[in-house]
Amino acid sequence: MADKKRIGILTSGGDCAGLNAAIRAVVHRAIRTYGWEVYGIRDGSLGLMRRPLEFEKLDLRLFTGNILRMGGTILGTTNKGDPFAFPMPDGTRKDMSQDFVDGVKELGLDALIVIGGDGSMRILRQLCQRGGIQMVGIPKTIDNDVHLTEYSIGFTTAVNVAVEALDRLQPTAASHHRVMILEVMGRDAGHIALNSGIAGGADVVLIPEIPYTLDGIVKKLNEVRDEGRNHALVVVAEGVKTEDGQKVTLTWKGGESRYGGIGHWLSDRLATLVQAETRVTVLGHVQRGGMPSMRDRLIGSAFGVHAVDLLAAGKVDRMVAWQNRGVVDVPIDDVVGVYRCVDPDGPLVTTAEGVGIYVGDRQAAQSHRQRPDVKVGE
Ligand code: F6P
Repeated sequence: MADKKRIGILTSGGDCAGLNAAIRAVVHRAIRTYGWEVYGIRDGSLGLMRRPLEFEKLDLRLFTGNILRMGGTILGTTNKGDPFAFPMPDGTRKDMSQDFVDGVKELGLDALIVIGGDGSMRILRQLCQRGGIQMVGIPKTIDNDVHLTEYSIGFTTAVNVAVEALDRLQPTAASHHRVMILEVMGRDAGHIALNSGIAGGADVVLIPEIPYTLDGIVKKLNEVRDEGRNHALVVVAEGVKTEDGQKVTLTWKGGESRYGGIGHWLSDRLATLVQAETRVTVLGHVQRGGMPSMRDRLIGSAFGVHAVDLLAAGKVDRMVAWQNRGVVDVPIDDVVGVYRCVDPDGPLVTTAEGVGIYVGDRQAAQSHRQRPDVKVGE
C-alpha cells in the first residue's frame, strides 16, 4: 500500500516496557521512508469507539529523545474494552464493534497497526475483518505467551525486574536465615518465573505447566539446609494452583478476577513444614513498569519498522515475530487462540534441574502436552 498515506497505531491490553520503542519506530519508518501520516489512537480500541474520536497525529517532533527510554505507552491502553462485548455502566454488555469500524472510517485510516497480546490480537483481527480494515500486529506481553514469536515486547524487562528482586532478597534471606518466596506474574505461562528463577539463583521454581508437591518443596529446602546454606529462594508464578488444584485469585465487586495469592498460600503451608521463617514478596505491576531492557527496545524497534514495511508491501493480516535472531512475519490467524507455554521437556527446564532447582514433577506435566490449543516453547 505504498500509495496509501494514513495509518493508525494503537496499544491494547496490559501495558509493558518497550511499547514506546515500537511506536517510535513505526512513526520514524512511516514518515521518513514512506512519507505517510501516522495517527496514534488513545486508550486502545476505546479511542475509535468514543465520540469525538480520541487520537493524536504523531510526528517526528514528538520523539525528543526520552520516549524510547520510557515505560508504559504514550498512547494509553485498556484491557477492558472488548468492542464486541463492551461493559456498560449498568453491568450489561453491548456490541459496539460498528462504532470501532466507523471510527476507523471517520479518521480515514488506510490501515491499523495493533500492538497487543494474544487476546487483543484476536479481538482486533475480528474487528478489522468485519470492517474490511487492513491490519498488522506487533506482539507484546510480559507473559511471553504469544505463539510463533520467541520474544514479545515487555518480557525481558519483566524478567530483569524479577531477577533484581531475587538479588535484593538473597542478602536479607541470608541475614535472617529465611525462606523468601517471590510471586511473579505470567498468567498461565511460567516463562517469567522460570527465566528469573534460573538467572536469580532460586532453589524452587513453580510454574503452572508442571505439577509439584509440598513434599517435593520441603525435601528440596531440607537439602539446601543440609548442604550448609541457611536460606533459600522460591519463585512461584501467579498462575500456579494449590497442591490440590485450586486456582488462587482475587475477585473484585462485579466479578472481575485476577491471579494473586499463591505466594501467601505457599508461605502458610511451608511455615508449618520447614524449620525456617518464610516471607512473601508479590512483585505485581512493578514488572510492567520502568525503563525497558535493551532487548525490549531492540525488538520493539525491529517490530515497528517491519510492521510498516509489511503495509508498504501490501502484506496484511500478519503479525511481526522474533525468530532465529531476527524479525519475521507470520499470519495472524496462525497465532490467535494458541497459547505458548513453557515446554516441560524443554532446555530451560533441563537447565533449572541441572543447577539443582526443584521445578516439580515434569513427568506429570502431561495435560499441557496434550492440549491442542497449547503450544510449548521456550
Ligand atoms: O498479561 C499481563 C499481565 O500483567 C499478567 O501477567 C497479569 O496476570 C495481568 O496482566 C494483570 O492484569 P491487570 O493489569 O489488569 O491487573
